[in-house]
Amino acid sequence: MTKAPLLIVILAAGRGVRMRSHLPKVLHPVGGRPMLGHVLATAKAAGASKVALVVAPGQDAVRALAEKEMPGIALFEQKTQAGTADAVLAAADAIAAHKGDVAVLFADTPLVRAETLMALVGVLEAGAGVAVLGFEPADPTGYGRVLRDAGGNVTAIREQKDASEAERAAKLCNAGAMAFRMPDLVGLLKRIENRNAAGEYYLTDAVALVRAEGRAVGVHVGSVEDAMGVNSRAQQAEAEAAFQQRMRAKAMAEGATLIAPETVWFSFDTKLGQDVIIEPNVFFGPGVVVEDGVTILANSHIVGARIGRGSRIGPFARLRPGADLAEDVHVGNFVEVKAATLEKGAKANHLAYIGDGFVGENANIGAGTIFCNYDGFDKHRTHVGKGAFVGSNSSLVAPVKIGDGAFVGSGSVITQNVEADALAVERAPLDVRPQWAAKFRQMKARRKAKR
Ligand code: UD1
Ligand code: MG
Repeated sequence: MTKAPLLIVILAAGRGVRMRSHLPKVLHPVGGRPMLGHVLATAKAAGASKVALVVAPGQDAVRALAEKEMPGIALFEQKTQAGTADAVLAAADAIAAHKGDVAVLFADTPLVRAETLMALVGVLEAGAGVAVLGFEPADPTGYGRVLRDAGGNVTAIREQKDASEAERAAKLCNAGAMAFRMPDLVGLLKRIENRNAAGEYYLTDAVALVRAEGRAVGVHVGSVEDAMGVNSRAQQAEAEAAFQQRMRAKAMAEGATLIAPETVWFSFDTKLGQDVIIEPNVFFGPGVVVEDGVTILANSHIVGARIGRGSRIGPFARLRPGADLAEDVHVGNFVEVKAATLEKGAKANHLAYIGDGFVGENANIGAGTIFCNYDGFDKHRTHVGKGAFVGSNSSLVAPVKIGDGAFVGSGSVITQNVEADALAVERAPLDVRPQWAAKFRQMKARRKAKR
C-alpha cells in the first residue's frame, strides 16, 4: 500500500495509428485480455484510492470496458489528441481535487506490475517532485531517452524525434509511467509547450520543469517487460511473448508440468491446480479452470471450461465455453464439448460433438456420436442419464433424453426420449446376401472383357 492517497490517471486516448486497426489500440488483447484491462487491474492492485481514465471522443467501447472492469471509474475525454501532457490535463478536475500523490500510466503498456508501480511511487518518499520509470531495452528505438547530468541526476526526457545523436546514445529509456508529488501539478502541466518535432504537448517535459522549480527527479529502473509499450502489431506480439513467459513460469512454480513450456499458451486468468500435466501445443483461452491431477494431451484447445480433478483431455480435444467436466472425465481425440456438463467418470473418447447437453455419471458416449443441438433456428438440449451407453455413430436429435442406464444401438438416430434401462435402436433390418459379391465381380469382369 502506498503512503499518501494515490490518484492514478490512465491515458488511453492516443490515436494508435501504428496499429493500423479499426479497434482502439488499448482494446487489443495481450494474454486474452484487452491491454486496458491489464492496466486497470494493476491500478487496483497497487491500491489506488481513485482512478481516472482519459479516452478519446467516440471511444464508447473503451468506456464500456472501463466501467465493466472498474465500476465508478472517473472518465474524462481528451477532445483532440495533442499529446500526453494534454491528455493528463483532460483529468485536471480529478487532479486538482486530489490530496496526495498522482501517478500516470499508459494503457498501451500492459505488462507494468503493481509492485513496479508501488516502487515508483515509493521513490517520492525521498523528496522527489516526480519519479520516472526507467528501463534499459536492447533496442531503444522509439522510446524517450532519460538524460542525466554528470552527477547521475535526471535532467530531462528527450523524445527520439527531438534527440541529438549524443542523446540517443543514452541507455536509460522512459517506460512512460510517472509519479508526482507536486502541490500544483495542474499548473505545472499547463506550462508545458509543444515546441518539438511532433508539435505535441509531452508529459515527459514535466521532468525538466520540476527540475527548474528546484525539485529533485527520482527514477526507478524497472524490467524491460514492465515497460514494454505497444504501438504496433509487432510490439503487441513481443508483449504477448513476454506475458506468456510470465504465465508459464507461474504455472510451473505452482506445480504444473509443462513438457514444452514454449508451446503452451495461457490467458490472463487461466487457473491450474497442482500436478497438472500439459503436453505440447495446448491453447487456453479466457475463463479456464483446471483442477488438480488433470492431464491435457497434445494439441488441445480450451476456452471457458472447467476440467475436474483427475480428468484426461485430448489429444486434439476442443473444450468451448460452458464445458463443465467433473472428476475423472475422459474427453479424447477430436471430441468437441460446448455448454455441456459431464458428470464424474463420463467418457467420450473419440470423434464426438457434445453441445448443449448433460452426460451423467459414468455414461459412455461412443465414437462418432453427435448431439444434434441446432435446428437452424434454436438450440436444444440433450440429456444422457447416469450409466447410459450411446453406441458409436449415433445422432441424438435434441431436445431429447436418454434415461439412466439405457443403451442406444450403434448408428441410431434418436428423435424421442428413451426410458431408463431400455434399448433404443433405429436401424433397417440387416440384409445379408450370400455369394452376392462374388457374382457381382464375375458379371463386371465378363462385361469388361467384351468391350
Ligand atoms: C511515450 C513517451 C515516451 C516513452 C513511451 C513508452 C511521451 C511524450 N512519450 O511515447 O517517452 O518512451 O511512451 O512507451 O509521453 N495518449 C493520449 N492522448 C494523446 C497522446 C497519447 O491519451 O494525445 C496516450 C496513448 O493512448 C498511450 C499513451 O498516451 O496510451 C502514450 O502515447 P503514445 O503515443 O503511445 O506515446 P509513445 O510514442 O509510445
Ligand atoms: Mg506508446
